[in-house]
Amino acid sequence: MDRKETINLLLYNVALEHSAIVQYLYHIFLITDGNITSEIEEIARQEMRHLKWFAQKVVQLGGQVVLDRLEDMIKVGGPEWTDMLSMDVMAEEEAIKVYSQQLELVKDDSIKKLLERVIKDEEHHRLEFSELIEKARESRLIVMEEERSYDPKTIQVLNKFLKEEYQTVINYLYQFFHSKNCDYKDIMLDLAIESMVHMGKLGEKVGEMGGMPDIGRIDFSPKPLKSLQEQVKAEIDYEQETGGEYGKEMEKIQDTELKSLFRFIEHQEDYHRQKLLEFFKLMNRLTVGSLKDKKGGKP
Ligand SMILES: [Fe+2]
Ligand SMILES: [Fe+2]
Ligand SMILES: [Fe+2]
Ligand SMILES: [Fe+2]
Repeated sequence: MDRKETINLLLYNVALEHSAIVQYLYHIFLITDGNITSEIEEIARQEMRHLKWFAQKVVQLGGQVVLDRLEDMIKVGGPEWTDMLSMDVMAEEEAIKVYSQQLELVKDDSIKKLLERVIKDEEHHRLEFSELIEKARESRLIVMEEERSYDPKTIQVLNKFLKEEYQTVINYLYQFFHSKNCDYKDIMLDLAIESMVHMGKLGEKVGEMGGMPDIGRIDFSPKPLKSLQEQVKAEIDYEQETGGEYGKEMEKIQDTELKSLFRFIEHQEDYHRQKLLEFFKLMNRLTVGSLKDKKGGKP
């Protein structure tokens, strides 16, 4: 197996993990029993680490990370929770099958180690999901349908934000994988994680309201890399814009719980802008400073 083939194999795994994460997110949003969803959340976080590890191997091999997903692999199922969770058992089985086959093909020792590790994780997840099916069976009997404030207009607004946050996660992760600047990478990872939290809060709200969260396809095509300065500048504007959008919606909304959610997110977007701005200033000072040094240094 040559370098190119290995990169493609790893990219397939990135897409497979991405698909599992999306499927699990649907279930986190649609299942209203916190005991069950908190366990799925933990599994989804582990899949994010898998995605990160596979993607980092791609970068190490000199490849370009594509954060696409496999549409056919995303199976939401339902409306019964037990049906959703059995889709998750199947997803874990598929992953175990794929990674075990790859173990036979891959020559690179470090990738082999990674695959072995991930297979163990997925086996554990498979077990956890089958236990969750039992839990769901019992819990469904106790948890009555709580009153739902189904409101298509609000759900539409929440879904618009949900999809935007998803796009932000993908864009920031892309920068995280490809940038060579450590400080910037660190900011991008933080902001991607916080955008995931925003996704979580919005999606849960849609589920609570009895709506269908929208985590449909977005733009996964790799963006041409701009200069770091241009990139950061665009991101500062973007954070300002999204913060403003949350602020605007907050004014229109009556529901106090939703109002405070939007206020909370708006506040974080403002902090994101702040962080990027600080980095932007620091970067400029360093560039200008080193130019001055060069001039001053010459006799
Ligand atoms: Fe995984
Ligand atoms: Fe898994
Ligand atoms: Fe956000
Ligand atoms: Fe943000």
